[in-house]
Amino acid sequence: MSIISNLSELQDAVREHRKPEADVTPLFLNRWSPRAFSDRKVSGNDLQAVLEAAHWAPSSYNDQPWRFIVATEEDQLEVFRSFLGDFNKLWATKAPVLIVVASDKLRENGDPNGAHAFDAGAAWGYLALQASLKGLISHAIGGFDREKARQLLNVPDHFELHAVIALGYQGDKNELPEALQAREIPNTRKPLSSVVFEGKVN
Ligand SMILES: Cc1cc2nc3c(=O)[nH]c(=O)nc-3n(C[C@H](O)[C@H](O)[C@H](O)COP(=O)(O)O)c2cc1C
Repeated sequence: MSIISNLSELQDAVREHRKPEADVTPLFLNRWSPRAFSDRKVSGNDLQAVLEAAHWAPSSYNDQPWRFIVATEEDQLEVFRSFLGDFNKLWATKAPVLIVVASDKLRENGDPNGAHAFDAGAAWGYLALQASLKGLISHAIGGFDREKARQLLNVPDHFELHAVIALGYQGDKNELPEALQAREIPNTRKPLSSVVFEGKVN
């Protein structure tokens, strides 16, 4: 399947399945989390742009507590794959880039940073949107062995490990295990009214 027909098929799928309730920029709808990755590598420039975007996220006191541990070489990827949960190994093994997102639980003066996870989440959001703008796909993975990752990647205890991000190009869903093929469509959202409250929570 060519990249162009693949992309237009994807946009059709987004239009079919995602019906926003307000006039939102398509960027937000076009980002979703496929599991079918192609063999195509991500260029160094594109990878840098995605990480650059992530670190322009806002953070409490501009502490920038996020850290990104990146695997692009086969020997690094093998290590990262070794701590993915079994379900996630089924599909994420093909991704040409895996990124562990961590954040520092402590501020520079040693005080606890209560906002570190919130800030790391914002950075991941920026990363995913920049990836989408570049025609890349990204998929966050919370199902991984954090202790194993911490040991293998030498991550000190004061960093929390949040997710592994699979990054690459959309591939052919027919190459996924059958059970996953049916899930390879953009999902939807709860009604806005069920997550937004006026004045106070009812
Ligand atoms: C923190 C986090 C952890 C996730 N963990 C997994 C995971 O372990 N395996 C998986 O297949 N998807 C995982 N996902 C993907 C979510 O299921 C997906 O983002 C959600 O269904 C919304 O769909 P969308 O990203 O396509 O809009 C994770 C997403 C986030 C943000």
